[in-house]
Amino acid sequence: MSALKSLQWDKGDLVLLDQTKLPGTITYIRCHTMEEVAGAIRVLAVRGAPAIGVAAAYGMVLALREGLEKGLHGDRLSQWFDRKGEILNDARPTAVNLSWAVKVMTALFHETEEREALSVLTEKARAMEEEDKNLCDAMADNGAHLFAGRKHLRILTHCNTGALATCGIGTAFGVIYRLHERGQVECVYADETRPLLQGARLTGTELMESHIPCRLISDNMAAYVMAHEHMDAVMVGADRIASNGDSANKIGTYGLSILAAYHHIPFYIVAPFSTFDFSISSGKEIKIEERDPEEVRSFHGVYDAPKDIPVLNPAFDVAPHELITGIITEKGVLTPPYDAAIKKYERSLQL
Ligand code: MRU
Repeated sequence: MSALKSLQWDKGDLVLLDQTKLPGTITYIRCHTMEEVAGAIRVLAVRGAPAIGVAAAYGMVLALREGLEKGLHGDRLSQWFDRKGEILNDARPTAVNLSWAVKVMTALFHETEEREALSVLTEKARAMEEEDKNLCDAMADNGAHLFAGRKHLRILTHCNTGALATCGIGTAFGVIYRLHERGQVECVYADETRPLLQGARLTGTELMESHIPCRLISDNMAAYVMAHEHMDAVMVGADRIASNGDSANKIGTYGLSILAAYHHIPFYIVAPFSTFDFSISSGKEIKIEERDPEEVRSFHGVYDAPKDIPVLNPAFDVAPHELITGIITEKGVLTPPYDAAIKKYERSLQL
């Protein structure tokens, strides 16, 4: 597991590892205000759905502290806090973990005595961080169970779903990590994940640090690899899962789900309860974040394309439920028909 932590609560500040600088430079951003947290989420200094959720929870603590320091009380403090929640919520639209965390913190604030609110909310954010670590472990165990007794596994993954994307060992990466601990992994194929290279920069780093046998491929090699190398599974995370199982994840995931189906390779999504959006019935309702065209034209300020070329830059796409073999959660593996499986899962959560 990576020695690097995505985030840390330190003396009343949220300290974020700046993932935009990895793997070359290890540097941290100390956030004293909610706006600084929102800014870090926007530029992907902290990214990955579960890590974004926990960062947002701490961001709401910072918002409350600032309001109290300004001497706000009663209705004025409530309005301040709610407004800050809206601003934070807008930082990134697709990962539902962000709005989930803001919603949880907002509800808790409104049901807590004002004089206790800061300590209660701080404890809640800490508990969410700890819970995320435990969720990762449970998903890893449930996912590894699917491959019990098998060896020499070859798994293809996309984007970054490890310690850097969560507060524990990761979602999809957590399962891979557990399988590696048990000596079952022969090779992990990591998509570099254009345009921002989370696969190359972040998953690459985590695979090497964990001594997991691996090969980095560019995204357009996935079909070739599936056709020419035996592949046991494709395993990815998710940013928002609809009630019918449609799963939004990093751009390129939809393509992988089609390729996996064509090559008869099991395609797994790994995600905790905070990534499910039980309020939407299908992936059509998922808002896809569109990011800065510069991310496609250039990398680290160096242009690979004409500076003024028009660009399309959706950050996520949706793998349709029909192409998903299973959704690995902390409570077990959900399988089709997903409408029923997800309803049952929701009931078991007692939210
Ligand atoms: O844009 P990013 O880097 O935040 O996208 C991250 C992903 O798409 C991950 O696969 C997803 O959050 C699931 S991870 C734990």
